[in-house]
Amino acid sequence: MNNVHTVAVVLAGGIGARVGLGIPKQLIKIAGKAIVEHTLEALDASPDIDEVIVMMNAATIDELSHLLGSGRFAKLTRILPGGETRNDTTRLAIEAIEGDDTKVLFHDAVRPFIDDRIISDCVRALDDYDAVDTAVPSADTIIEVDERQHITGIPPRSRLRRGQTPQAFRLGVIRRAYEIAAEDPDFTATDDCGVVFTYLPETPIYVVDGTAENMKVTEPIDIHIADKLFQLQSASLSLDGGDLADLSGKAIVVFGGSYGIGASIVVQAREHGARVREFSRSTTGTDVGSPKAVRKALRAAYEEFGRIDAVVMTAGVLNIAPLVETPKQEVKRTIRTNLLAPATVAREAFPYLEETGGEVVLFTSSSYTRGRAGYSIYSATKAGVVNLTQALSEEWAESGVRINCVNPQRTATPMRTAAFGEEPEDTLLDPDHVAWVTLRMLTVPVTGQVINVRLHDA
Ligand code: CTP
Repeated sequence: MNNVHTVAVVLAGGIGARVGLGIPKQLIKIAGKAIVEHTLEALDASPDIDEVIVMMNAATIDELSHLLGSGRFAKLTRILPGGETRNDTTRLAIEAIEGDDTKVLFHDAVRPFIDDRIISDCVRALDDYDAVDTAVPSADTIIEVDERQHITGIPPRSRLRRGQTPQAFRLGVIRRAYEIAAEDPDFTATDDCGVVFTYLPETPIYVVDGTAENMKVTEPIDIHIADKLFQLQSASLSLDGGDLADLSGKAIVVFGGSYGIGASIVVQAREHGARVREFSRSTTGTDVGSPKAVRKALRAAYEEFGRIDAVVMTAGVLNIAPLVETPKQEVKRTIRTNLLAPATVAREAFPYLEETGGEVVLFTSSSYTRGRAGYSIYSATKAGVVNLTQALSEEWAESGVRINCVNPQRTATPMRTAAFGEEPEDTLLDPDHVAWVTLRMLTVPVTGQVINVRLHDA
């Protein structure tokens, strides 16, 4: 049965009224890409899928046309207009696919965390069943109410499941179910298994396990949850143990590489075969706040190596004092080094990285999520670095240049000791570990991410 054609249909015909952002929710950008692009990536990469079709909201279908033939999604063959309702969209997809035996998976565009295991369970289950659903147990007790808000039933929770997608079928079966439904003037449904359940009741529908991550982005809060899940996902990608990949052939530029994390990055990158140039005020007299100095440094590295694959910016300053007691010059110096310089480095590095599909790595601090008394400007610049990373990842998505941001917990660096004094060693991260994560990240295809490095992961 392995030669049966398997098609994944991405249902993206809706408008996302409940999220209420004024654009179809499948086009909302999270972690540098539209939600539907994340979903497409997962389906396109699955070895169990042969072809992918997108059914897109007709009014905004042009927003996705650049994906066809872009080379990014080898299995994506068509982007077709969706229908009025979700079921209309499914019906249109059925009309566009051929063969009764074809395995077809309908998946919500707004469930970007679908994984290979779910896909393969669905595809395999279609060897034994004609209809397959994906579901998770319900943590909440589900109650039934009437129009007066009175409870009319409490089904036993242990047998309740929350339905997700994919919903997978042999094409002939789902087509037949919709044909019968078309005769029913009272037809209502919110999913596709419901159509089989109602109109082909003799067809058993098998249920494979979904995951909590395979959530549907529905309400505004889901955008925040999805954003966090993408962060966690890429963090675990970069932190999964193992040796650093061989970096030979890579040319890396490190700004602020004379001590601390930057110095460790230089040493480890060289140990793993990379060619590295480091620039800092103390070693090369390079002022990272000066576009001219940054330009000169990058040009020198390019002339020496003939390419630049990654530019890592670790330079930063931290002084502890209440804002009203901080000299004006010091405020300016912090903004210049911690925020203006990363922007300058990113801007100047872009043309070189465009040639290699390379990456910029910036550094933030855990104070980016909440400003801390005593280092207000530092916290503010670190929040700025995260926004810069996210914004540039979107601006650069088409170019293939990536940008990410490392967020190390307290790390045993000279900068930290100067600011906070001696602290117990076992509460601080080893700069070598932070450097390891940074270099590991260069080998992982993520962009727009904040990679948290925590002590307990080290
Ligand atoms: N969908 C579709 N065609 C429609 C309506 C919905 O393909 N006419 C898709 C949505 O794009 C989404 C999935 O079905 O990927 C799940 O539907 P839902 O969460 O209800 O999406 P929307 O209808 O977009 O959201 P809302 O109900 O908040 O408007």
